[in-house]
Amino acid sequence: MTQADMQALPTPRRIGGRTALAGVIGWPVAHSRSPLMHNFWLAQYGIDGAYVPLPVRPGAFDVAVRGLQAAGFRGTNVTIPHKEAAFRIVDRLDRSARRSGSVNTLVFAPDGAIEGYSTDGDGFVANVEAHGIAVTGGRALLLGAGGAARAIAASLLDRGVAVTIANRTAARAHELADAMRADAEAGAMVDVAPWDGLGTVLPGCDMLVNTTSVGMHGGPPGDLPVDLALATPALVVCDIVYVPRQTALLRTAAARGLRCVDGLGMLIHQARLGFRKWFGTDPVIGPEVEALLDADLRGEGS
Ligand code: ATR
Repeated sequence: MTQADMQALPTPRRIGGRTALAGVIGWPVAHSRSPLMHNFWLAQYGIDGAYVPLPVRPGAFDVAVRGLQAAGFRGTNVTIPHKEAAFRIVDRLDRSARRSGSVNTLVFAPDGAIEGYSTDGDGFVANVEAHGIAVTGGRALLLGAGGAARAIAASLLDRGVAVTIANRTAARAHELADAMRADAEAGAMVDVAPWDGLGTVLPGCDMLVNTTSVGMHGGPPGDLPVDLALATPALVVCDIVYVPRQTALLRTAAARGLRCVDGLGMLIHQARLGFRKWFGTDPVIGPEVEALLDADLRGEGS
């Protein structure tokens, strides 16, 4: 081969014995933006690492995790439908995981233990704070009672924010409130409001958070039962849906001049702890990674 021929060859990405490996376990997992985000940060910081999607069928989670640990991975993110299985497999549960009842970040510690964290709640709060909004005190109205709602409720309560939960299926709202009350630190700062009676609750709230799939591209039809005309001008409206970034709820809120926080930043902020644990660098969350994800999500309803 001539030197010109050599120069024409593609440059392979170097993956070697020291490359730090992590990934995201899910089923399906092809839609996950985590590989894009983590590999962007790896490139940005010049870190010898790689982050890959790991499609693992329901039922194969434990064997996959043990295998990845044995193969030298640093850890993984965990997404639907494995977050509860992840909760069960860990040797050391972080408080964040205990409070939210699920795990989205596994760290394979040097002593052989599997550590579990839930970063959704703190990712939500960090994103709101990144918008210049203090998350201390006041009252939040949380719509929904699934896994995301539980993680967010726990983080809000930790910051002294009183939480009112409303869910289409009232029993799930009560279950979530009971789980939060069982934690002595959260005390009585959590209550439940009826899904069809939010008109009396909203005026007393400083923050409204949609954790349901209503408003999501491909999600259920219809609107949330909130009338933003009843809100105080100081209400902060948050949606954890990020496809589209501007949901019907946020569009209405913006039109009323209310401060809005969309869901993309939560996706980015929740990734930070895992990156730091696996790759040893705390990524600065700047406009570049947001622009990258935003561009990638366009065309999916964004
Ligand atoms: P996650 O763990 O991501 O939060 P989940 O556990 O499936 O997901 O929760 C989805 C939430 O969206 C639930 O609060 C669900 O309400 P129900 O408990 O009544 O099912 C809510 N949700 C889904 N579709 C809805 C709809 N059409 N109207 C109102 N709420 C809806």
